[in-house]
Order: sequence, then structure tokens, then C-alpha cells
Amino acid sequence: MAEVIIVPSADEAGALVADEIIALIAAKPSAVLGLATGSTPLPVYRALASRRDEMDLSSVSAFALDEYVGLPVTHAESYRSVITREVVEPLGLKPSRVHVPNGALETIEHAGEDYEAAIEEAGGIDLQILGIGTDGHIGFNEPGSSFASRTRVKTLTAQTRRDNARFFASEDEVPMHCITQGLGTIQSARHLVLLAFGSGKARAVAGAVEGPVTASLPGSALQLHRRATVIVDEEAAAELANADYYRHAYANKPSWQGL
Ligand code: F6R
Repeated sequence: MAEVIIVPSADEAGALVADEIIALIAAKPSAVLGLATGSTPLPVYRALASRRDEMDLSSVSAFALDEYVGLPVTHAESYRSVITREVVEPLGLKPSRVHVPNGALETIEHAGEDYEAAIEEAGGIDLQILGIGTDGHIGFNEPGSSFASRTRVKTLTAQTRRDNARFFASEDEVPMHCITQGLGTIQSARHLVLLAFGSGKARAVAGAVEGPVTASLPGSALQLHRRATVIVDEEAAAELANADYYRHAYANKPSWQGL
């Protein structure tokens, strides 16, 4: 199962993940990062930006999890724009090494295959940052997504469109479709780091970590991964039955283990 780390704050989680990414890049200068968008990973990106001097990012590549279909990339809320604003510019990553699925309608039929090929060509993803939706989605793999799925077009649930309406002028403006790495794509990454903050995520986190492994809760796919780390604040940990054990295991974690 996943290692669960309960931290006092999102900033503390951001600092922990930044430590891990800095160590990864030091060990492997051509590391391939998997990037999530949304609110959850922002403390990681902020922590990394504040420690830019400690990393040589010139050979690092990155792949975003997902993109809206049919939203112009120039739109402020396209994930291409978000990744540029929140990650590429503050960290100084080379734009040509940062990939986002192509949500343009003209090429959408083969955009999934193209993205899979690009990930493979880069040598696969070393560390994939994940958030989780209130309905248990990871990437935009909504409940019912196949554990074997690769990058493809999905229809967003009404719940996800409601949740993401905060980034748009109204819920109607949230696109209906997205293109997302599949659960199979995510499972192929060498290390998964899922973050969740706030009470709104407590049920999805408990289901993902301790519930049955089921396509009805896509985050539960983490239980099948050989190296998955889940970092949550107290609110998001509130429904975990084994929270005391996770705290005990983390307090006694050998220092050489890293995340
Ligand atoms: C975004 C993504 C989604 C989000 C999830 C949580 O790239 O893959 O799975 O991580 O919708 O969103 P936030 O972090 O905004 O609560």
C-alpha cells in the first residue's frame, strides 16, 4: 500500500516534495517530472521556485497530466497556460522540454497516442505529482475509468465541472471534455506522490488509501503501485482508520529512505 505522511500544513508537504525532487534531479539530471495542475500542487511549485539555485534544471523534462479539450491554449485556464505560469516560468524550466496533452479539436483523435509516444521517448516519468478530486479522480480519470487506460479523451463529471467552476466565470464555461493520462499511464511512473489538503478531500483520500481497489474510485489505483506516497494535512487525513499507524511509521522511518 501507499506510504501515508500526515503533515501539519500544505506548505510542509510542499517542502517535503521539493526535497525529494531536488534529490532526484541531483541523482538524475535528466529526470522526467509528472506535473499536476489545480490548487493542490502549488505549495510544491512554490517551494521549488524558492530553491531554484539548488537545482540544474537544464536537462529536466516534464509532462502534465491533463488538458481541457477545445479550450484555446491561450486561455488563462488552459492547463498549458497554468503550467507555464505556475511551473515553467517560476522554475525556469526549458519550455521545449515541458509537455501538455494537446486538447486542440483538429488533432484530438491521435493526441493521446502522440502523448504516450512522447512520454516513452523521454524514458518514462520518474516522479508523478498527483492531486485527487472530491469524487476520487486522479488526472481527469473519472470514476469508472479503466485501470489499464492510457492518455485519451474523457467526459468530465458534473461534480468535477462544479469543482473547477471557481477557475472560470461560470460553470457553463468549464469544458465538457478533457484529455488525460490514463490510470495505466500514471501507474507506469516510477514514483507517485499524491497530495491532498482540506476536509473536502477526506472521503476520497480514505477511499483511495484504505478502501477497496475499484475503478469506481480511481485514486485507489495507488494501492497497486510499488512506490506511492500520499501526503495529507490533518483535515484530509480525518477519515483514515489507520492514521495512528501512519504517524508511528513515519516517526520511525529510517532516515536513508527518503520519501
Ligand atoms: C489536475 C488533475 C486533477 C486535480 C484534482 C484536484 O491536473 O489532475 O486530478 O489534481 O481535480 O484538484 P485541486 O487540486 O484543484 O483540488
